[in-house]
Amino acid sequence: MIFVVDFGSQTTHLLGRRIRELGVDTKIVQPDEILRYAQNDKDIKGVILSGGPSSVYSKGAPTIDPQIFDLKIPILGICYGLQLTTYLLGGKVVAGRKEYGPAKLKIENLKLKITNGLQETFVVWMSHGDEVVALPEGFKTLGSTGHVPFAFVEDSKRKIIGLQFHPEVEHTENGLRILKNFIVICQGSHPAQSEGSRDSSAIPQNDIIENIKTIVGDSYVIGAVSGGVDSTVAATLTAKAIGKRFIPIHVDNGLMREGTREHVVGIFKKIGARPIVVNAVGEMLKRLRKVTDSEKKRKIIGNFYIEIFERIRKKLLKKSLPVKFLLQGTIYSDVIESQGSKYASRIKSHHNVGGLPKNMKLKLLEPLRNFYKDEVREIGRRLDIDEDLVNRQPFPGPGYAVRIRGEVTKKRLEQEKKADEVVIHELEKAGILDNVFLSFPVMTGAYSTAVKGDGRHFGEVVALRVVQSKDIMTSTWAKLPYEVLQKISSRIVNEIPGISRVVYDITTKPPATMEWE
Ligand code: XMP
Repeated sequence: MIFVVDFGSQTTHLLGRRIRELGVDTKIVQPDEILRYAQNDKDIKGVILSGGPSSVYSKGAPTIDPQIFDLKIPILGICYGLQLTTYLLGGKVVAGRKEYGPAKLKIENLKLKITNGLQETFVVWMSHGDEVVALPEGFKTLGSTGHVPFAFVEDSKRKIIGLQFHPEVEHTENGLRILKNFIVICQGSHPAQSEGSRDSSAIPQNDIIENIKTIVGDSYVIGAVSGGVDSTVAATLTAKAIGKRFIPIHVDNGLMREGTREHVVGIFKKIGARPIVVNAVGEMLKRLRKVTDSEKKRKIIGNFYIEIFERIRKKLLKKSLPVKFLLQGTIYSDVIESQGSKYASRIKSHHNVGGLPKNMKLKLLEPLRNFYKDEVREIGRRLDIDEDLVNRQPFPGPGYAVRIRGEVTKKRLEQEKKADEVVIHELEKAGILDNVFLSFPVMTGAYSTAVKGDGRHFGEVVALRVVQSKDIMTSTWAKLPYEVLQKISSRIVNEIPGISRVVYDITTKPPATMEWE
């Protein structure tokens, strides 16, 4: 077993997933627990020190007992894990040149166990503010980037390896190979799985169904269904577990894409359930009036949903249907961004996690809480959910509200919807829509000058965001053909009154999240 020490990285849980995919068991532990495990647990074969948002030299920064470095257990420090190792062993860490996103790594020695099978140069993903500027005694540099001289380091005697970049994220090339090499060092043998092959039986949908049965007992469950893949997979699993005691509910809040209501009804017809559809279009806009802060928007929307579900719970109770649970299609990326672990930062409060009221009567049922988007899609396929739906682009629960910077007015909502239709239509026509992870326009709240028919026009700037990702933790911007970009821009500016300009967002995640809010 490899132990992963959680210093609050957005990707600690993902690290655990990657190690499991390579056929090795993992356990995520807190910094103050690791020495005890290392001294007493016979199963421990290696330790990974995760990244995290802290600075090693800050007051109260999470740390570990340095005795661990003398136990001859292989240790892999990633980002903060490398910086902490350096700091504790006598090297130097400073507030460096901040670096988020892709960088080119050059490996100096390809003949070592940890560099086995790597190319000489490849792209790695960074996400750090601090930097190692002096290595502790015994360490050697194995690789560097243009910005970071100590990007890949090793103390071969003590079996300590350090990486400033993140091998666990989808967009780091050779990341799995490095983790596999570390496992080989830990085991002194080859890992059970080959690089990149995943053990699909590791996604236990039968266990999920059994678990739902145990949790729910003989009570009823209402489920929030949006027509997206997460809530549909969660609903299908729950329907399989408890049959008619599961009642799907769709809240039409006017912030979703045109046709969503009909789409949801169609999906559930196939499952053999008829969702209760609640029309909340007018009330939703009323509650968002004058609200400009994105965290506030999410809280208002999350709270409003719960209010509706609570009302339905009471109605069903009068019909002698005791509803105790609210099913949500929450997945792991929602959880970690909403501050899902002790030392993690809150990036944004996803409406279904951090946006919920504290005094809810309904208990949450979230069978997909520990899974990533690509895993949820895989479960969906195995449940025979249509491929079209399984591959459908995600759409955030708060819908267009988080794609309109500032106040959501009726006028701006209409503009956003029209721009979205243009984007979808043009990407579909070019055969691109199904090949990108997410595509949408943003009403930016910025204004600029245009000349329309010889007259001055001062209108809003629309940003186009099209990204590629599998598990949501990192993403790149899609390299769309210029002709498609031109067509989208011309159509939006010409066809939608009040829009002066279209810009294309070319920022990776990290640093930028996919949505603008
Ligand atoms: P970010 O912007 O966090 O987006 O990189 C990651 C994924 O999450 C979706 N998203 C949300 N989904 N409630 C949701 O149900 C939310 O509050 C929320 N915020 C972002 C986003 O569309 C993308 O798929």
